[in-house]
Amino acid sequence: MSDADGGASLDENRDACDRGDNPAVRRLADWDADRLEALAEEHGTPLYVTDLDRVAENCTRLRDAFPDAEVRYAVKAHTGRAVLETVRDAGLPAECASAGEVHRALGAGFSGSEVQYTAVNPPAADLDYVVDAWREYPELTITVGAADTADRLRERGFDGRLCVRVNPGVGAGHHEKVQTGANAKFGVPYDRAVDLVESASEAFDLVGIHAHAGSGISGDDLANHRELVRRMGELARDVSAAGVDLEFVDVGGGFGVPYLETEPALDLAAVAEATREALGNLDATLAVEPGRYVVADAGVLLTRVNTVKETPETVVTGVDAGMTTLLRPAMYDAYHAIRNLTSESSDRDDADASDNADARGTVGSTVVGPICESSDVFCENRPLPRPERGDLLAVGNAGAYGYEMASTYNSRPRPAEVALEGGDAALVRRRETLTDLTEVESR
Ligand code: LLP
Repeated sequence: MSDADGGASLDENRDACDRGDNPAVRRLADWDADRLEALAEEHGTPLYVTDLDRVAENCTRLRDAFPDAEVRYAVKAHTGRAVLETVRDAGLPAECASAGEVHRALGAGFSGSEVQYTAVNPPAADLDYVVDAWREYPELTITVGAADTADRLRERGFDGRLCVRVNPGVGAGHHEKVQTGANAKFGVPYDRAVDLVESASEAFDLVGIHAHAGSGISGDDLANHRELVRRMGELARDVSAAGVDLEFVDVGGGFGVPYLETEPALDLAAVAEATREALGNLDATLAVEPGRYVVADAGVLLTRVNTVKETPETVVTGVDAGMTTLLRPAMYDAYHAIRNLTSESSDRDDADASDNADARGTVGSTVVGPICESSDVFCENRPLPRPERGDLLAVGNAGAYGYEMASTYNSRPRPAEVALEGGDAALVRRRETLTDLTEVESR
Protein backbone atom coordinates (compact mmCIF):
# COMPACT_ATOMS: atom_id res chain seq x y z
CA MET A 1 0.00 0.00 0.00
CA SER A 2 1.41 3.35 -0.90
CA ASP A 3 0.53 4.87 2.46
CA ALA A 4 -0.20 2.27 5.08
CA ASP A 5 0.15 4.54 8.06
CA GLY A 6 0.51 8.04 6.76
CA GLY A 7 -3.05 8.64 5.47
CA ALA A 8 -5.70 10.98 6.82
CA SER A 9 -6.34 10.71 10.55
CA LEU A 10 -9.39 8.90 11.89
CA ASP A 11 -10.99 12.19 12.94
CA GLU A 12 -10.36 13.80 9.57
CA ASN A 13 -11.86 10.78 7.87
CA ARG A 14 -14.83 10.73 10.18
CA ASP A 15 -15.48 14.42 9.51
CA ALA A 16 -15.30 13.77 5.81
CA CYS A 17 -17.67 10.80 6.12
CA ASP A 18 -20.22 12.61 8.21
CA ARG A 19 -20.42 15.91 6.40
CA GLY A 20 -23.91 17.31 6.69
CA ASP A 21 -24.33 17.41 2.91
CA ASN A 22 -23.46 13.74 2.64
CA PRO A 23 -24.87 11.93 5.65
CA ALA A 24 -23.58 8.45 6.44
CA VAL A 25 -27.02 6.95 6.02
CA ARG A 26 -30.26 7.75 4.27
CA ARG A 27 -33.21 6.25 6.09
CA LEU A 28 -36.52 5.27 4.55
CA ALA A 29 -38.12 8.12 6.55
CA ASP A 30 -35.91 10.61 4.67
CA TRP A 31 -37.55 9.94 1.28
CA ASP A 32 -40.06 12.52 0.08
CA ALA A 33 -43.45 10.79 0.31
CA ASP A 34 -45.23 13.13 -2.12
CA ARG A 35 -42.63 12.52 -4.79
CA LEU A 36 -42.79 8.75 -4.34
CA GLU A 37 -46.59 8.82 -4.52
CA ALA A 38 -46.46 10.82 -7.75
CA LEU A 39 -44.01 8.31 -9.26
CA ALA A 40 -46.18 5.34 -8.30
CA GLU A 41 -49.17 7.11 -9.80
CA GLU A 42 -47.34 7.76 -13.06
CA HIS A 43 -45.49 4.46 -13.51
CA GLY A 44 -47.57 1.96 -11.56
CA THR A 45 -46.33 -0.56 -9.00
CA PRO A 46 -44.29 -2.48 -8.10
CA LEU A 47 -41.69 0.15 -8.92
CA TYR A 48 -38.04 0.51 -8.03
CA VAL A 49 -36.89 4.09 -7.48
CA THR A 50 -33.14 4.70 -7.58
CA ASP A 51 -31.66 8.03 -6.56
CA LEU A 52 -28.49 8.50 -8.63
CA ASP A 53 -27.47 11.54 -6.60
CA ARG A 54 -27.35 9.35 -3.52
CA VAL A 55 -25.31 6.75 -5.43
CA ALA A 56 -22.80 9.50 -6.23
CA GLU A 57 -22.76 10.63 -2.58
CA ASN A 58 -22.04 7.11 -1.41
CA CYS A 59 -19.15 6.88 -3.88
CA THR A 60 -17.74 10.16 -2.60
CA ARG A 61 -18.01 9.06 1.03
CA LEU A 62 -16.16 5.83 0.25
CA ARG A 63 -13.39 7.62 -1.60
CA ASP A 64 -13.05 10.15 1.22
CA ALA A 65 -12.76 7.34 3.77
CA PHE A 66 -10.15 5.46 1.72
CA PRO A 67 -8.13 8.28 0.16
CA ASP A 68 -5.06 6.12 -0.56
CA ALA A 69 -6.92 3.04 -1.75
CA GLU A 70 -8.63 2.08 -4.97
CA VAL A 71 -12.36 1.81 -4.29
CA ARG A 72 -14.01 -0.48 -6.83
CA TYR A 73 -17.74 -0.96 -7.22
CA ALA A 74 -18.94 -4.58 -7.05
CA VAL A 75 -21.49 -4.18 -9.81
CA LYS A 76 -23.49 -7.26 -8.83
CA ALA A 77 -25.36 -5.15 -6.28
CA HIS A 78 -27.04 -3.14 -9.05
CA THR A 79 -26.03 -3.38 -12.71
CA GLY A 80 -28.51 -0.91 -14.17
CA ARG A 81 -26.84 1.25 -16.78
CA ALA A 82 -27.79 4.53 -15.09
CA VAL A 83 -26.15 3.33 -11.87
CA LEU A 84 -23.03 2.12 -13.69
CA GLU A 85 -22.66 5.45 -15.49
CA THR A 86 -23.06 7.32 -12.21
CA VAL A 87 -20.43 5.18 -10.49
CA ARG A 88 -18.08 5.54 -13.45
CA ASP A 89 -18.49 9.34 -13.39
CA ALA A 90 -17.71 9.24 -9.67
CA GLY A 91 -14.39 7.60 -10.59
CA LEU A 92 -14.87 4.08 -9.23
CA PRO A 93 -13.76 1.16 -11.40
CA ALA A 94 -16.00 -1.90 -11.83
CA GLU A 95 -15.60 -5.31 -10.21
CA CYS A 96 -17.54 -7.84 -12.27
CA ALA A 97 -18.56 -11.42 -11.49
CA SER A 98 -19.55 -12.69 -14.92
CA ALA A 99 -19.22 -12.10 -18.65
CA GLY A 100 -22.60 -10.37 -18.48
CA GLU A 101 -21.36 -7.92 -15.89
CA VAL A 102 -18.18 -7.24 -17.90
CA HIS A 103 -20.38 -6.69 -20.95
CA ARG A 104 -22.52 -4.21 -19.02
CA ALA A 105 -19.51 -2.39 -17.55
CA LEU A 106 -17.83 -1.95 -20.95
CA GLY A 107 -21.17 -0.90 -22.41
CA ALA A 108 -21.55 1.75 -19.72
CA GLY A 109 -18.21 3.24 -20.69
CA PHE A 110 -15.75 1.82 -18.17
CA SER A 111 -12.32 1.60 -19.78
CA GLY A 112 -10.39 -1.69 -19.83
CA SER A 113 -8.21 -0.58 -16.92
CA GLU A 114 -11.40 0.07 -14.93
CA VAL A 115 -12.70 -3.48 -15.33
CA GLN A 116 -11.83 -6.29 -12.98
CA TYR A 117 -13.40 -9.65 -13.71
CA THR A 118 -13.54 -12.01 -10.73
CA ALA A 119 -14.09 -15.49 -12.14
CA VAL A 120 -16.06 -17.87 -9.91
CA ASN A 121 -16.06 -21.37 -11.44
CA PRO A 122 -16.44 -19.63 -14.78
CA PRO A 123 -18.39 -21.29 -17.58
CA ALA A 124 -16.36 -21.62 -20.81
CA ALA A 125 -18.55 -19.01 -22.47
CA ASP A 126 -17.55 -16.45 -19.82
CA LEU A 127 -13.85 -17.08 -20.35
CA ASP A 128 -14.28 -16.95 -24.12
CA TYR A 129 -16.09 -13.62 -23.85
CA VAL A 130 -13.68 -12.03 -21.39
CA VAL A 131 -10.54 -13.17 -23.24
CA ASP A 132 -12.04 -11.73 -26.44
CA ALA A 133 -12.78 -8.50 -24.58
CA TRP A 134 -9.19 -8.47 -23.28
CA ARG A 135 -7.86 -8.51 -26.86
CA GLU A 136 -9.74 -5.26 -27.37
CA TYR A 137 -9.15 -3.91 -23.83
CA PRO A 138 -5.73 -5.31 -22.82
CA GLU A 139 -5.77 -3.36 -19.55
CA LEU A 140 -8.55 -5.38 -17.98
CA THR A 141 -7.72 -7.65 -15.07
CA ILE A 142 -8.90 -11.20 -14.48
CA THR A 143 -9.03 -12.66 -10.98
CA VAL A 144 -8.86 -16.45 -10.68
CA GLY A 145 -9.81 -18.49 -7.65
CA ALA A 146 -8.30 -21.79 -8.86
CA ALA A 147 -5.11 -22.87 -10.65
CA ASP A 148 -7.44 -24.63 -13.07
CA THR A 149 -8.98 -21.33 -14.14
CA ALA A 150 -5.52 -19.90 -14.81
CA ASP A 151 -4.80 -22.94 -17.02
CA ARG A 152 -8.05 -22.42 -18.92
CA LEU A 153 -7.11 -18.79 -19.53
CA ARG A 154 -3.67 -19.76 -20.79
CA GLU A 155 -5.26 -22.30 -23.16
CA ARG A 156 -7.20 -19.37 -24.64
CA GLY A 157 -4.02 -17.36 -25.17
CA PHE A 158 -4.50 -14.97 -22.27
CA ASP A 159 -1.26 -13.64 -20.80
CA GLY A 160 -2.54 -10.32 -19.45
CA ARG A 161 -3.16 -8.87 -16.00
CA LEU A 162 -3.96 -11.62 -13.52
CA CYS A 163 -4.96 -11.50 -9.87
CA VAL A 164 -5.19 -14.53 -7.57
CA ARG A 165 -8.18 -14.86 -5.28
CA VAL A 166 -7.27 -16.40 -1.96
CA ASN A 167 -9.47 -18.20 0.51
CA PRO A 168 -8.44 -16.34 3.64
CA GLY A 169 -10.06 -18.89 5.97
CA VAL A 170 -12.12 -16.24 7.72
CA GLY A 171 -15.64 -15.21 6.79
CA ALA A 172 -18.12 -12.56 7.87
CA GLY A 173 -21.53 -11.27 6.89
CA HIS A 174 -25.17 -10.75 7.77
CA HIS A 175 -26.21 -14.35 7.06
CA GLU A 176 -24.40 -17.65 6.65
CA LYS A 177 -25.46 -17.72 3.01
CA VAL A 178 -23.37 -14.65 2.22
CA GLN A 179 -20.18 -15.57 4.07
CA THR A 180 -17.59 -16.45 1.45
CA GLY A 181 -14.24 -16.02 3.19
CA ALA A 182 -14.02 -19.51 4.68
CA ASN A 183 -16.07 -21.24 1.99
CA ALA A 184 -14.02 -23.72 -0.07
CA LYS A 185 -15.84 -22.65 -3.23
CA PHE A 186 -14.03 -19.31 -3.28
CA GLY A 187 -10.33 -18.76 -3.79
CA VAL A 188 -7.21 -20.89 -3.58
CA PRO A 189 -6.36 -22.24 -0.14
CA TYR A 190 -4.32 -19.68 1.78
CA ASP A 191 -1.30 -21.90 2.26
CA ARG A 192 -1.04 -22.65 -1.47
CA ALA A 193 -1.41 -19.06 -2.57
CA VAL A 194 2.28 -18.10 -2.66
CA ASP A 195 3.10 -21.09 -4.88
CA LEU A 196 0.30 -20.30 -7.30
CA VAL A 197 1.18 -16.61 -7.42
CA GLU A 198 4.81 -17.48 -8.12
CA SER A 199 4.06 -19.97 -10.89
CA ALA A 200 1.33 -17.77 -12.40
CA SER A 201 3.72 -14.83 -12.52
CA GLU A 202 5.70 -16.72 -15.15
CA ALA A 203 2.78 -17.01 -17.56
CA PHE A 204 0.81 -13.84 -16.76
CA ASP A 205 1.29 -10.25 -15.69
CA LEU A 206 0.63 -11.01 -12.02
CA VAL A 207 -0.75 -7.78 -10.56
CA GLY A 208 -2.65 -8.57 -7.39
CA ILE A 209 -4.08 -10.80 -4.72
CA HIS A 210 -7.69 -10.74 -3.63
CA ALA A 211 -9.99 -12.00 -0.88
CA HIS A 212 -13.57 -11.29 0.19
CA ALA A 213 -14.89 -12.17 3.65
CA GLY A 214 -18.60 -11.88 2.95
CA SER A 215 -21.40 -9.40 2.65
CA GLY A 216 -23.12 -7.06 5.07
CA ILE A 217 -20.32 -6.72 7.60
CA SER A 218 -21.37 -4.58 10.52
CA GLY A 219 -19.24 -2.82 13.11
CA ASP A 220 -19.59 -5.99 15.22
CA ASP A 221 -17.87 -8.11 12.57
CA LEU A 222 -14.91 -5.81 12.32
CA ALA A 223 -12.67 -8.35 14.07
CA ASN A 224 -13.13 -10.80 11.19
CA HIS A 225 -12.54 -8.11 8.59
CA ARG A 226 -9.39 -7.07 10.43
CA GLU A 227 -8.16 -10.66 10.56
CA LEU A 228 -8.77 -11.14 6.84
CA VAL A 229 -6.86 -7.97 6.05
CA ARG A 230 -4.01 -8.97 8.38
CA ARG A 231 -3.68 -12.32 6.60
CA MET A 232 -3.71 -10.62 3.21
CA GLY A 233 -1.00 -8.18 4.32
CA GLU A 234 1.11 -11.09 5.50
CA LEU A 235 0.54 -12.96 2.27
CA ALA A 236 1.49 -9.91 0.22
CA ARG A 237 4.77 -9.67 2.12
CA ASP A 238 5.42 -13.41 1.54
CA VAL A 239 4.68 -12.99 -2.15
CA SER A 240 7.02 -10.06 -2.38
CA ALA A 241 9.74 -12.02 -0.51
CA ALA A 242 9.30 -14.70 -3.18
CA GLY A 243 10.18 -12.04 -5.75
CA VAL A 244 6.74 -11.09 -7.14
CA ASP A 245 5.87 -7.39 -7.08
CA LEU A 246 2.19 -6.77 -6.54
CA GLU A 247 0.39 -3.71 -7.81
CA PHE A 248 -2.58 -4.12 -5.46
CA VAL A 249 -4.00 -6.12 -2.57
CA ASP A 250 -7.79 -6.31 -2.80
CA VAL A 251 -9.46 -7.11 0.51
CA GLY A 252 -12.99 -7.35 -0.91
CA GLY A 253 -16.21 -5.53 -0.12
CA GLY A 254 -18.97 -6.34 2.30
CA PHE A 255 -19.41 -3.01 4.09
CA GLY A 256 -22.79 -3.21 5.78
CA VAL A 257 -25.66 -0.73 5.80
CA PRO A 258 -28.25 -0.34 8.58
CA TYR A 259 -31.40 -2.15 7.51
CA LEU A 260 -33.00 -1.62 10.92
CA GLU A 261 -34.13 1.96 11.50
CA THR A 262 -32.50 1.85 14.94
CA GLU A 263 -29.17 0.47 13.76
CA PRO A 264 -26.35 3.03 13.55
CA ALA A 265 -24.58 3.68 10.27
CA LEU A 266 -21.36 1.80 9.68
CA ASP A 267 -18.44 3.86 10.92
CA LEU A 268 -16.61 3.90 7.62
CA ALA A 269 -13.69 5.86 9.01
CA ALA A 270 -13.18 3.18 11.66
CA VAL A 271 -13.34 0.45 9.02
CA ALA A 272 -10.80 2.29 6.89
CA GLU A 273 -8.55 2.82 9.89
CA ALA A 274 -8.79 -0.84 10.93
CA THR A 275 -8.04 -1.89 7.35
CA ARG A 276 -4.94 0.28 7.08
CA GLU A 277 -3.69 -0.84 10.46
CA ALA A 278 -4.24 -4.55 9.83
CA LEU A 279 -2.64 -4.49 6.40
CA GLY A 280 0.65 -3.11 7.67
CA ASN A 281 3.34 -1.71 5.43
CA LEU A 282 3.21 -2.69 1.80
CA ASP A 283 4.42 -1.36 -1.50
CA ALA A 284 1.17 -2.36 -3.17
CA THR A 285 -2.04 -0.30 -3.29
CA LEU A 286 -4.94 -1.34 -1.10
CA ALA A 287 -8.15 -2.03 -3.01
CA VAL A 288 -11.67 -2.48 -1.62
CA GLU A 289 -14.76 -3.44 -3.61
CA PRO A 290 -18.05 -2.62 -1.92
CA GLY A 291 -21.34 -3.16 -3.73
CA ARG A 292 -24.16 -2.82 -1.21
CA TYR A 293 -22.75 0.32 0.40
CA VAL A 294 -22.85 2.15 -2.93
CA VAL A 295 -26.48 1.52 -3.79
CA ALA A 296 -28.52 0.12 -0.87
CA ASP A 297 -29.89 3.34 0.60
CA ALA A 298 -30.19 4.90 -2.87
CA GLY A 299 -33.17 2.68 -3.66
CA VAL A 300 -36.71 2.08 -2.51
CA LEU A 301 -39.32 -0.32 -3.75
CA LEU A 302 -42.89 0.97 -4.06
CA THR A 303 -45.72 -1.51 -3.81
CA ARG A 304 -49.48 -1.26 -3.41
CA VAL A 305 -51.75 -3.11 -1.02
CA ASN A 306 -54.24 -5.24 -2.92
CA THR A 307 -55.72 -7.47 -0.23
CA VAL A 308 -56.29 -6.96 3.49
CA LYS A 309 -57.23 -9.97 5.57
CA GLU A 310 -57.83 -9.97 9.32
CA THR A 311 -56.88 -13.22 11.02
CA PRO A 312 -56.71 -14.06 14.71
CA GLU A 313 -52.91 -13.86 14.66
CA THR A 314 -52.19 -10.93 12.37
CA VAL A 315 -53.45 -8.63 9.66
CA VAL A 316 -52.30 -10.14 6.38
CA THR A 317 -51.38 -7.30 4.06
CA GLY A 318 -51.17 -8.53 0.46
CA VAL A 319 -49.08 -6.33 -1.81
CA ASP A 320 -48.23 -6.42 -5.52
CA ALA A 321 -44.48 -6.96 -4.99
CA GLY A 322 -43.23 -10.31 -3.84
CA MET A 323 -40.17 -12.48 -3.48
CA THR A 324 -39.79 -12.24 -7.25
CA THR A 325 -39.44 -8.46 -6.91
CA LEU A 326 -37.28 -8.36 -3.76
CA LEU A 327 -35.86 -11.74 -2.79
CA ARG A 328 -33.82 -10.81 0.26
CA PRO A 329 -36.45 -11.36 2.99
CA ALA A 330 -37.35 -14.81 1.61
CA MET A 331 -33.76 -15.86 1.00
CA TYR A 332 -31.95 -14.43 4.01
CA ASP A 333 -34.76 -13.49 6.41
CA ALA A 334 -33.51 -9.99 5.71
CA TYR A 335 -35.21 -7.07 7.45
CA HIS A 336 -36.32 -4.16 5.25
CA ALA A 337 -38.04 -1.11 6.70
CA ILE A 338 -41.59 -0.55 5.43
CA ARG A 339 -43.46 2.75 5.41
CA ASN A 340 -47.13 3.30 4.60
CA LEU A 341 -47.05 6.46 2.50
CA THR A 342 -50.82 6.64 2.06
CA SER A 343 -51.57 6.64 5.76
CA GLU A 344 -49.07 9.49 6.11
CA SER A 345 -50.63 11.45 3.30
CA SER A 346 -54.08 11.17 4.85
CA ASP A 347 -52.41 12.53 7.98
CA ARG A 348 -50.86 15.31 5.98
CA ASP A 349 -54.19 16.21 4.33
CA ASP A 350 -56.06 16.31 7.59
CA ALA A 351 -56.20 19.42 9.73
CA ASP A 352 -55.84 17.31 12.85
CA ALA A 353 -53.24 14.82 11.78
CA SER A 354 -52.86 13.08 15.10
CA ASP A 355 -56.60 12.25 15.21
CA ASN A 356 -56.30 10.72 11.80
CA ALA A 357 -53.29 8.64 12.80
CA ASP A 358 -55.17 7.44 15.86
CA ALA A 359 -58.16 6.58 13.72
CA ARG A 360 -56.00 4.31 11.58
CA GLY A 361 -54.10 2.92 14.54
CA THR A 362 -51.23 0.47 14.39
CA VAL A 363 -51.63 -3.27 13.93
CA GLY A 364 -49.34 -6.25 13.69
CA SER A 365 -49.06 -6.57 9.93
CA THR A 366 -47.72 -9.51 7.93
CA VAL A 367 -46.84 -8.12 4.54
CA VAL A 368 -46.96 -10.80 1.84
CA GLY A 369 -46.57 -10.92 -1.92
CA PRO A 370 -48.60 -12.60 -4.66
CA ILE A 371 -46.30 -15.62 -5.12
CA CYS A 372 -47.57 -19.08 -4.33
CA GLU A 373 -44.83 -19.82 -1.77
CA SER A 374 -45.00 -19.57 1.99
CA SER A 375 -41.65 -17.77 2.04
CA ASP A 376 -43.14 -14.90 0.04
CA VAL A 377 -43.27 -12.66 3.11
CA PHE A 378 -41.66 -9.24 3.62
CA CYS A 379 -42.27 -9.07 7.36
CA GLU A 380 -44.26 -10.87 10.02
CA ASN A 381 -46.52 -9.17 12.49
CA ARG A 382 -44.69 -5.88 12.27
CA PRO A 383 -46.41 -2.86 13.89
CA LEU A 384 -47.55 -0.75 10.92
CA PRO A 385 -50.44 1.65 10.30
CA ARG A 386 -53.64 -0.39 9.81
CA PRO A 387 -53.55 -1.15 6.07
CA GLU A 388 -56.28 -0.34 3.57
CA ARG A 389 -56.65 -1.64 0.06
CA GLY A 390 -54.84 0.74 -2.36
CA ASP A 391 -52.32 1.99 0.21
CA LEU A 392 -48.87 2.67 -1.16
CA LEU A 393 -46.00 1.12 0.80
CA ALA A 394 -42.32 1.94 0.45
CA VAL A 395 -39.70 -0.70 1.22
CA GLY A 396 -36.33 0.73 2.24
CA ASN A 397 -32.74 -0.10 1.32
CA ALA A 398 -33.91 -1.82 -1.84
CA GLY A 399 -31.13 -0.44 -4.03
CA ALA A 400 -28.70 -3.30 -3.44
CA TYR A 401 -29.52 -6.85 -4.58
CA GLY A 402 -33.11 -5.72 -5.19
CA TYR A 403 -33.91 -5.54 -8.89
CA GLU A 404 -30.71 -7.48 -9.41
CA MET A 405 -32.14 -10.64 -7.83
CA ALA A 406 -35.63 -10.23 -9.27
CA SER A 407 -37.01 -13.13 -11.27
CA THR A 408 -40.05 -14.03 -13.32
CA TYR A 409 -41.05 -16.99 -11.14
CA ASN A 410 -44.81 -17.61 -11.16
CA SER A 411 -44.63 -15.89 -14.56
CA ARG A 412 -44.58 -12.47 -12.99
CA PRO A 413 -42.99 -9.86 -15.23
CA ARG A 414 -40.21 -7.90 -13.53
CA PRO A 415 -41.00 -4.37 -12.33
CA ALA A 416 -40.08 -0.99 -13.78
CA GLU A 417 -37.35 1.27 -12.44
CA VAL A 418 -37.24 5.05 -12.25
CA ALA A 419 -33.99 6.95 -11.66
CA LEU A 420 -33.88 10.31 -9.90
CA GLU A 421 -31.15 12.78 -10.70
CA GLY A 422 -30.90 16.48 -9.90
CA GLY A 423 -34.63 16.93 -9.48
CA ASP A 424 -35.53 14.93 -12.61
CA ALA A 425 -37.10 11.50 -12.74
CA ALA A 426 -36.72 9.16 -15.73
CA LEU A 427 -37.97 5.69 -16.45
CA VAL A 428 -34.72 3.73 -16.90
CA ARG A 429 -36.15 0.22 -17.04
CA ARG A 430 -39.60 -0.40 -18.43
CA ARG A 431 -41.97 -2.81 -16.76
CA GLU A 432 -41.82 -6.24 -18.38
CA THR A 433 -44.99 -7.46 -20.05
CA LEU A 434 -46.68 -10.82 -20.30
CA THR A 435 -45.38 -10.99 -23.85
CA ASP A 436 -41.80 -10.56 -22.62
CA LEU A 437 -42.26 -13.72 -20.57
CA THR A 438 -42.58 -15.98 -23.60
CA GLU A 439 -40.47 -14.08 -26.09
CA VAL A 440 -37.39 -16.34 -25.76
CA GLU A 441 -39.33 -19.55 -26.30
CA SER A 442 -39.37 -21.17 -29.74
CA ARG A 443 -42.53 -23.16 -29.28
N1 LLP B 1 -16.54 -8.73 -3.97
C1 LLP B 1 -16.86 -10.03 -4.12
C2 LLP B 1 -15.87 -10.96 -4.63
C3 LLP B 1 -18.15 -10.46 -3.81
O1 LLP B 1 -18.47 -11.74 -3.96
C4 LLP B 1 -19.12 -9.54 -3.34
C5 LLP B 1 -20.47 -9.97 -3.00
C6 LLP B 1 -18.72 -8.19 -3.20
C7 LLP B 1 -17.43 -7.83 -3.52
C8 LLP B 1 -19.66 -7.12 -2.74
O2 LLP B 1 -20.18 -7.34 -1.48
P1 LLP B 1 -21.06 -6.18 -0.80
O3 LLP B 1 -20.15 -5.00 -0.60
O4 LLP B 1 -22.16 -5.84 -1.73
O5 LLP B 1 -21.55 -6.76 0.44
N2 LLP B 1 -27.31 -11.18 -2.38
C9 LLP B 1 -26.74 -10.96 -1.07
C10 LLP B 1 -25.33 -10.47 -1.15
C11 LLP B 1 -24.40 -11.42 -1.87
C12 LLP B 1 -23.07 -10.81 -2.15
C13 LLP B 1 -22.20 -11.69 -2.95
N3 LLP B 1 -20.90 -11.16 -3.16
C14 LLP B 1 -27.62 -9.99 -0.28
O6 LLP B 1 -28.62 -9.54 -0.82
O7 LLP B 1 -27.36 -9.72 0.88
